[in-house]
Amino acid sequence: MARFLHLTDLHIVPEGLLVSGQLDTARLFRGAVDTLIHRLESIGPVDAVLVTGDISDDGSAESYRVAREQLERLGQRLLVVPGNHDDRETFRAAFSDLPEIRSTGQIDWVADIGDTRVIGLDTLIEGKGGGTLRDESLVLLSEALSTAGRRQTLVALHHPPLRTGIRFMDAIGLENPDALRSVLDQHDAPVRVLAGHVHGVYHGLLGRHPVVTAPSCCSAFALDVRKEAPVGFLTGPTGCAVIDTGVGGVWTELPLRYGDGPFAF
Ligand SMILES: [Fe+2]
Repeated sequence: MARFLHLTDLHIVPEGLLVSGQLDTARLFRGAVDTLIHRLESIGPVDAVLVTGDISDDGSAESYRVAREQLERLGQRLLVVPGNHDDRETFRAAFSDLPEIRSTGQIDWVADIGDTRVIGLDTLIEGKGGGTLRDESLVLLSEALSTAGRRQTLVALHHPPLRTGIRFMDAIGLENPDALRSVLDQHDAPVRVLAGHVHGVYHGLLGRHPVVTAPSCCSAFALDVRKEAPVGFLTGPTGCAVIDTGVGGVWTELPLRYGDGPFAF
């Protein structure tokens, strides 16, 4: 088994700047890391921290420096894939010391953590909100699945192969979920797909493969499927997730702010 802390959509900008004139994401993430460090003992040991993209909001080198500084405070092995807000080359430079990050091409990788194979896929189309899986990534995925043996398998990518019903998010979804499904279907065992991008928890199936998205560390989108739904973000709830790939292990949301308590029964 292996346990992962799954963070996503940090949207960091350099200190002193605000995302959309509202969110001090550098401060919010510093607070999130303070909270997680405080809770690490109660959460229990994790084998790696997985971050599924939109680490930066503006793609600046300074935003990655701020993000990395905070991520390092968690003291865990880091696994990272880019999202639509990331700049591929600046992202690569910021994480170039991680063993999975190649010096050129797509930021796709394979990491074996305990008995679990994690396959990170790069869906970034620079300058666009939507994402795609290119042939290069699908080939890497296919090879990684065919050599996974009896390992548990996780696929991590920014854009989930799901529709949320929120029109402004579905308009910038993953272009080719069927291409992902057809590669996953070649693998005998179910593959769990972990994603971000939609700033909330959504669970669905891609064929027989479960897909789940983690909440964002900085903002949320309301579930509003009306045609005239307002386009924009909420300041919460924010959170992350924990996944345990062992037998009987679960995926669970980890809110960054709990209600009051615990009160005795
Ligand atoms: Fe995104």
